[in-house]
Amino acid sequence: MCGIIGYCGDKNASTVLLEGLKRLEYRGYDSAGICVGIDKALKIVKCKGKIKDLKAIVPENFPGNYGIGHTRWATHGEVNDVNAHPHTDGSGKVAIVHNGIIENFQTLKNKLQREGHEFRTETDSEVIAHLIGTFYQGDLEKAVREAIGLLKGTYGIVCVHADEPNRMIGARNGSPLVLGVGEHEMFLGSDVTAMMAYTKQVVYLEDGEIVDVTDKGFRTSDYDDREIAKEIDHIDWELQQIEKDGFPNFMEKEIFEQPESIRRCMSGRLDTELATGHLGGLNLSSKELLEVERVKIIAAGTSYHAGMVASYLMESMARIPASAELASEVRYRNPIVERNSLYFAVSQSGETIDTLFAMRELQRKGARVLGICNVVGSTIPRESDGGVYIHSGPEIAVASTKAFTSQLMAFYIFALSMARMRDMSYETGHTLLDGMKAIPDQVVRVLEQKNAIRDLAMKYSSSENFLFLGRGINYPVALEGALKLKEISYIHAEGYSAAEIKHGPIALINEQTPSLFLVPDDRLREKVISNMKEIKARQGKVIAVAVEGDEEVGDIADDTIFIPSTHELLYPFLMVVPLQLFAYYTALDLGRNVDQPRNLAKSVTVE
Ligand code: M6R
Repeated sequence: MCGIIGYCGDKNASTVLLEGLKRLEYRGYDSAGICVGIDKALKIVKCKGKIKDLKAIVPENFPGNYGIGHTRWATHGEVNDVNAHPHTDGSGKVAIVHNGIIENFQTLKNKLQREGHEFRTETDSEVIAHLIGTFYQGDLEKAVREAIGLLKGTYGIVCVHADEPNRMIGARNGSPLVLGVGEHEMFLGSDVTAMMAYTKQVVYLEDGEIVDVTDKGFRTSDYDDREIAKEIDHIDWELQQIEKDGFPNFMEKEIFEQPESIRRCMSGRLDTELATGHLGGLNLSSKELLEVERVKIIAAGTSYHAGMVASYLMESMARIPASAELASEVRYRNPIVERNSLYFAVSQSGETIDTLFAMRELQRKGARVLGICNVVGSTIPRESDGGVYIHSGPEIAVASTKAFTSQLMAFYIFALSMARMRDMSYETGHTLLDGMKAIPDQVVRVLEQKNAIRDLAMKYSSSENFLFLGRGINYPVALEGALKLKEISYIHAEGYSAAEIKHGPIALINEQTPSLFLVPDDRLREKVISNMKEIKARQGKVIAVAVEGDEEVGDIADDTIFIPSTHELLYPFLMVVPLQLFAYYTALDLGRNVDQPRNLAKSVTVE
């Protein structure tokens, strides 16, 4: 959701803030603003639109060495110049940027209005600036501490005061906040990308922490002002990884990075000699792993689809009952934590609030929750009981692609190790292991078909509805294909089990509604072919993703994308890549902003 940044140091603040906001833009992009302090006054520039629109109205050589910035994903109040952050109190001396939702803002606002405060915006966030202004008596940190004592909801806040130059106060509760420690300069940001161009030394703040920052140093404390010693971490990512590196946009770059990102996820984790996998960081002994009787996976969006694939895997490879559930549903249904169940929270960003809150709820009930995450140092891996980093490198495009295939690989390695500890033979383990090792090169072969897939996307891009159909382990891949298409092209797309269409969705079929079938050469192939024929019999157009050499499918379908053959459990890797490319080229053909689709944001830190 929203991206926030704060800076104090010896550089020109507006330059640093705009650079940081550009990097954070994937978190929200409907409006943006900066506030810079100079000569005991705060100067604010903000507008509806993207960072480039903001940049165009920030005066050249805008002076000042400290300030805050924000890129918004609107929750309260329409998208316009006024509702853009930063927000100030009535005196104009306090300015804040906020990420999260203040649930009791209306009550607080009513009270402040009765006391004479005039509000200029429809946002929940403005109330924070007014409260801080009310409590301010010469010490900004003290005023922030008192103000947040009244807030209910989630927040990452950065605040400055005109009378205290080169000082900023940050507070975190439910929305991420990271401190960047530079030479004679300090940063606050929603994530490390905001400050990576300047420093790789960071401090991750936890919920319930306040940080008092000046250009000389920082002090971290809890809400009762007890000092908290924090460790400084080093970020491994390179700046080049968060740049487009010659690609027209991040989504294409990330799709084409997959052979490498899948390889990185496997690296050092496959044991050819014993035909098994090893994942460090699980914090579980072999005995504890053997005692696992059930695997439960919680996640949202694309990560949920990876979790669904994983549940098939756990059952078919390791014969352990497994299920995946939407994290947003888990939290509020008072989940039952069974003995010897092992939970996984899957999240690319490691910050998705639905997943984080569900994880905390499960932990409160005694569950052991492992994280499968990409962003190192993010909240879910920090709070989980162990876990695995998928090492995809930064994923910037809103549509998740390379994280999905690496999440899958992490689960395949885990399932293989669990299976080999139980009743999977060395030979079967080896077959799977060989198949897994071949995946990156096979993904390269799928990517080589990009021109054919682009032509296909252009052929069908005028369709208003689409069905994505798969079965078994490829059913979640069909859901993922539909999600990719709808989120970046805005074409209505539904994913179904191919067997389900006769129970309702087939009523949608006509010449204008194409169906994209996933047809691996597995034991359900014949059934899926029958479903294809049912669509053809009703004049529906059929696109198939089938295995090289499958002429029967090629003859039935109107168009076919062929993928290399693999072990039947490994098809999700090869099936999803054409769907990512199909969605990508469809969106491009329709002139969509593929990296920043409408109404969305990359890291969903509100409920
Ligand atoms: O960071 P997470 O993996 O927890 O994010 C979960 C979803 O918000 C995310 O996968 C979303 O659905 C993507 N936009 C899908 O492409």
